[in-house]
Amino acid sequence: DPNCCLFKVAHEFIKSIGGKKPEKIKVIVSSHNYQSTPSVEELGNLVVKIQSTGADIVKIATTAIDITDVARIFQITVHSLVPIIGLVMGERGLISRILCTKFGGYLTFGTLEGGVVSAPGQPTINDLLNLYNFRQLGPDTKVYGIIGKPVGHSKSPMLYNEAFKSAGFNGVFVHLLVDDLEMFLRTYSSTDFAGFSCTIPHKETAVKCCDEVDPVAKSIGAVNCIIRRQSDGKLFGCNTDYIGAISAIEDGLQAGYNMSSAAGSPLAGKLFVVIGAGGAGKALAYGAKQKGARVVIANRTYERARELADVIGGDALSLDDLARFHPEDGMILANTTSIGMQPNIDQTPMPKDALKYYSLVFDAVYTPKITRLLREAKETGATIVSGLEMFIGQAYEQFERFTGLPGKT
Ligand SMILES: NC(=O)c1ccc[n+]([C@@H]2O[C@H](COP(=O)([O-])OP(=O)(O)OC[C@H]3O[C@@H](n4cnc5c(N)ncnc54)[C@H](OP(=O)(O)O)[C@@H]3O)[C@@H](O)[C@H]2O)c1
Repeated sequence: DPNCCLFKVAHEFIKSIGGKKPEKIKVIVSSHNYQSTPSVEELGNLVVKIQSTGADIVKIATTAIDITDVARIFQITVHSLVPIIGLVMGERGLISRILCTKFGGYLTFGTLEGGVVSAPGQPTINDLLNLYNFRQLGPDTKVYGIIGKPVGHSKSPMLYNEAFKSAGFNGVFVHLLVDDLEMFLRTYSSTDFAGFSCTIPHKETAVKCCDEVDPVAKSIGAVNCIIRRQSDGKLFGCNTDYIGAISAIEDGLQAGYNMSSAAGSPLAGKLFVVIGAGGAGKALAYGAKQKGARVVIANRTYERARELADVIGGDALSLDDLARFHPEDGMILANTTSIGMQPNIDQTPMPKDALKYYSLVFDAVYTPKITRLLREAKETGATIVSGLEMFIGQAYEQFERFTGLPGKT
């Protein structure tokens, strides 16, 4: 037993200080496993052995091979009758450090400076306090998160935790580095884990993992938002990518024409040209179609445009024919390709001259915020809607679905 020495030393030490230990001093006996996280049974035995050394506080640190390893540590800490610290090292173990007080943990560790850690995966104290609102977390806090691989770069925790804080909502939003979505959802199946944003590479698999999927998300073939119904724990999948983009475009049209939202969707009956037939293109095309627009898809690979057009009931164009496409004025254009994205900011999917046929131009690219396409569209007098508005729009939508609170306030 690699812990044999630990038990012996701890036992002897505690015995040696015996009655001399001042009341305020607590002894933590800590076991580290740098390879893996053992079974619940083995962890339970470990706790008993550490406790029998006379420790005031039991500490177990293990290593996460998979994010589901953390669930076993939570199972131990939440049922422990003695003060216990349970931490799982590594990026996949991050939630053990953030959610420990929710699951009965005595304390967590944070670093003073980013990158200067005493064990892999430690967050900074600043992030614990200000990003995750650590002091407000408790047993009733609902857990949300962004599921992806990689996921560390995502700004979603910043956005949602700030929103939760300002709405006084008892929730926390974390990064979830997930390798196997099905196993993750099966393991964290309690209603404590109330909702997830889903990003690359899990959006397609998520369709299969949900108990119910919104028909549009099913048609798009991608779920980017998963809600756990609190009444029965069932998972509901939807796609807010298109909702964010479409509502930003509707807002743009309403502002441009001074229309009220009571008049129905301003997209109804409009000719809506989508450039691109990938994930974002599909989402925009379905969303526009659902609002009653007539949809035309233009794509570099014509076959993909044709395929999407056939499924949604629209027309297809090749990218080469797009500039000459002018059946009517006042059309809507949505670029969903990465053309014009940093570092290729001089590129545009449409010659400036052809933009005069469009009353509104949207670009899914949001780095830079104003792409060449949007700049030139504005110069030709069109209303413009940026990819940032799409990003924020879908975040509003997810916030509402997560919390039941209005997003825009
Ligand atoms: N603002 C937001 O919130 C948001 C959300 C999602 C995505 N996006 C942005 O939307 C863009 C597309 O994302 P996605 O997930 O839809 O990607 P995707 O599934 O890989 O699809 C890419 C599409 O762009 C086309 N394309 C790529 N490079 C091209 C080029 N050089 N010339 C012509 N066509 C080109 C592809 O055409 P082929 O079929 O011929 O390959 C395909 O239709 C990205 O820039 C992404 O950042 C923004």
